[in-house]
Amino acid sequence: MLRTSLHLGITGILVAAFTGGATNSLSAQDDANPYDALVDVRAGEGIFERHCSRCHGMNATGGETGPDLTTGRFRHASTDAGLFSVITRGVPDTEMTAFRRARSDQDVWQLVAYLRSLSGGPRVEVPGDPAKGERLYRNKGGCTSCHMIDGAGGLSGPDLSTIGARRSPEDLLSDLVEPDERVMPRWWRMRVVHRDGTPVAGRRMNEGTYSVRILDEDNHLWSFQKRDLIESERIETSSMPSYTSELSDDELTDLVAYLYGLIRDEEG
Ligand code: HEC
Ligand code: HEC
Repeated sequence: MLRTSLHLGITGILVAAFTGGATNSLSAQDDANPYDALVDVRAGEGIFERHCSRCHGMNATGGETGPDLTTGRFRHASTDAGLFSVITRGVPDTEMTAFRRARSDQDVWQLVAYLRSLSGGPRVEVPGDPAKGERLYRNKGGCTSCHMIDGAGGLSGPDLSTIGARRSPEDLLSDLVEPDERVMPRWWRMRVVHRDGTPVAGRRMNEGTYSVRILDEDNHLWSFQKRDLIESERIETSSMPSYTSELSDDELTDLVAYLYGLIRDEEG
């Protein structure tokens, strides 16, 4: 999965180089996405949170105004170039206005890479027993302490209520065995010490040039001015443990079958 997207990224850059770079919007639309490596997906997520999430929701799963963008199917576009065009031009006569705050085409392509990363591709048959997988999820796996499904569970990891619609079975397996492969900035953590000696560790909620907000394990939200911190460390790996040794291959297969079945009602 990761290797394919890196490969595409390299091909895309070559295409862009031969067509005179990706700075010209019109020619860029004919090309494959030149910015679809993992770093681009992450950058795209950041841009999405700042400019798009107020309508489309934090995980792009839909908000009060904007539709769900995680299903892998778009009404107004089928290709990456089509998405590029929807984002730069908007959808006429709707609240989806042209995105004018992009600093360059790269920002828009990174948004496209992020949106593409959210869908699990076409539905496929999976082996494994979802009922056993659900028991593993609740008991042996201890997943509920960090994840929420249908309103129940912890807040230290992403909500998994519709994860089956967003990730392919291979993606889900790699989430379980290699959690550090693809950690979005939203799940980065921080460990800081205030100058009065208070240590705080937790999820990095917002970080600006001068300030940072951290949500600790008891769900207390801390705000700090950076100049008041005597120590500060950003942790870009996942707080999720790898389950390779914890669970057998059969158990992982059952767990993937359970997670893959978590989709929205109208799709199920
Ligand atoms: C003010 C609210 C608003 C903001 C901000 C917004 N959108 Fe939208 N977006 C919408 C609405 C509403 C639609 C549905 C338009 C329609 O009726 O088809 C939409 C549609 C879309 C579509 C097409 C979906 C499809 O099925 O074809 C994409 C892609 C999209 N938005 C991406 C983005 C991105 C990326 C951003 C940030 C740069 C963004 N939107 C910002 C409201 C918004
Ligand atoms: C200590 C907290 C913790 C535990 C326990 C935990 N996770 Fe996670 N999980 C996370 C965090 C944080 C992320 C986001 C960062 C990342 O991708 O690793 C995540 C990501 C995921 C993702 C990818 C979600 C997405 O939106 O892409 C899946 C799937 C997942 N976890 C499933 C599980 C399952 C199943 C279990 C139990 C076997 C589990 N997790 C246990 C913290 C946890």
